[in-house]
Amino acid sequence: MKDFKKSTVYQIYPKSFYDTNGDGFGDLNGVIEKLDYLKNLGIDYIWITPFYPSPQVDNGYDIADYYNIDPSFGTLEDFEKLVVEAKARNIYIMLDMVFNHTSTEHNWFKKALDGEEKYKEFYIFKEAVNNELPTNWKSKFGGTAWEYIDKFEEYYLHLFDRTQADLNWDNEEVRKEIYSIVNYWIEKGVKGLRFDVINLISKPEKFENDLDGDGRRFYTDGPKIHEYIKELNENTYGKYDDIITVGEMSSTSIENCIGYSNPKEKELSMVFNFHHVKVDYKNQNKWELQVCNFDNLKKILNDWQLGMQDGNGWNANFWCNHDQPRIVSRFGNDKEYHKESAKMLATMIHLLRGTPYIYQGEEIGMTNAYFTDINQYVDVESLNYFKILKEQEINEDEIYKVLQERSRDNSRTPMQWNSSKNAGFSQGKPWLSINDNYTDINVENGIKDKSSILYHYKKLISLRKQYDVIAYGNYLPMLEDNESVFAYKREYKDEYLIVLNNFYGREVEIELDIQDLEKYKCIITNYEERNLKLRFTLKPYESIAFIK
Ligand code: GLC
Ligand code: CA
Repeated sequence: MKDFKKSTVYQIYPKSFYDTNGDGFGDLNGVIEKLDYLKNLGIDYIWITPFYPSPQVDNGYDIADYYNIDPSFGTLEDFEKLVVEAKARNIYIMLDMVFNHTSTEHNWFKKALDGEEKYKEFYIFKEAVNNELPTNWKSKFGGTAWEYIDKFEEYYLHLFDRTQADLNWDNEEVRKEIYSIVNYWIEKGVKGLRFDVINLISKPEKFENDLDGDGRRFYTDGPKIHEYIKELNENTYGKYDDIITVGEMSSTSIENCIGYSNPKEKELSMVFNFHHVKVDYKNQNKWELQVCNFDNLKKILNDWQLGMQDGNGWNANFWCNHDQPRIVSRFGNDKEYHKESAKMLATMIHLLRGTPYIYQGEEIGMTNAYFTDINQYVDVESLNYFKILKEQEINEDEIYKVLQERSRDNSRTPMQWNSSKNAGFSQGKPWLSINDNYTDINVENGIKDKSSILYHYKKLISLRKQYDVIAYGNYLPMLEDNESVFAYKREYKDEYLIVLNNFYGREVEIELDIQDLEKYKCIITNYEERNLKLRFTLKPYESIAFIK
């Protein structure tokens, strides 16, 4: 059995990971073929984003059948083989469970549209109010959250794309169906579950207009959310002691996240929140650019570290995933300090209190895509916003700039394995363009060079296993007022850890207040090893951790 506090999770976006049959789409056999690479990296769990049958409007987050594998990814047998082959390498599989909504291609929704009352109750249909939409809520992908069905003279709710209809969790039959699905995958040997936007499932009793927002305050961490997660736990994974769970929490609070992840509550093992990756949103709007507000970043991460620690909750820590731009392009510098800043960001996030998640390609410092033509984009959110921003008469150059920084396609470009054709990802035409820098940034180069970003990640993963203070230690912020450095201490029994990270491409002098200096030794750095001193200068993007 694995201890999730000592574990590292590696996220695979299978469509972009490795294609074994030349159709341009990554597949499950591709994951199997790369297991030795992952074993060597030292990770414990693979979280695989959705591979179920789906029209792929939202790249698989629009599920049409929860019990199967989309043929473009392979078969159930391939999946079963993956579980066995991974286990043989001491790696466990974590699946993505999308239960806020189904695809409108799901049989339940089709039956609902056919007028079967039972299935209509699976979704959220509402009538117009005073000849207007049922509420003024907005879809997270732009536009209204309601879609009209002529035949019923009613609208159904979709918090995401119109092809992703929200499920009605207040219907007990829906909840029971969901338990069967979760149990089905648990019986197939899955040891981890990631619940997609799970804190949005409990809708309010009364649907009303949001006079100062897009509606999220009515359904985020909704009225019965804790009750429903407890019930889910009790009926599925809670019956086992070796299954870990992580909830994706949209616009949530520390207080709720303590509830979700404090073991006493019997809800989830840990939670993702996104506040720290919004510090470069201007006016809290993803589609308006601003440089990273470093003060804010520090404050948010410190508050969450301390708040969750006080409430005995547990964070899932990350910089990257399939919805976020690449971190080295975002808070680092993917040009002059590619290696240094990628390593600094890695150290920063991996040594926090919480379980670290790595998104495929992050471990080799993959960068944003910098696409220059709208035809290169595939992501539904990006395409919607391209239209919306054009309607707002923002000029095209500006829109491209925003997409180059914010589009989810930045993280979805195929994995760069080597410098051969298509970065070694596929023999066919990749479904999404490969980043031009693949001849430079790729796994093969990372393996050859002992000072690579890849080796740095490998080391971080093993340090968490080696030192209890990294897995279990208390968190204490340091140098809170410093404008360039993110520093912290961790403490556990008689082990002490100090982590210093310069977030900028300039030198910065720091002064520390520490006893027993000579007892500290450097355990990881992105420059030369050095001894701890009370006063010293950190180099551009220098990151260094010491242990006593
Ligand atoms: C989550 C997923 C994202 C998806 C959305 C709707 O945020 O990570 O990719 O579009 O939920 O399912
Ligand atoms: Ca394929």
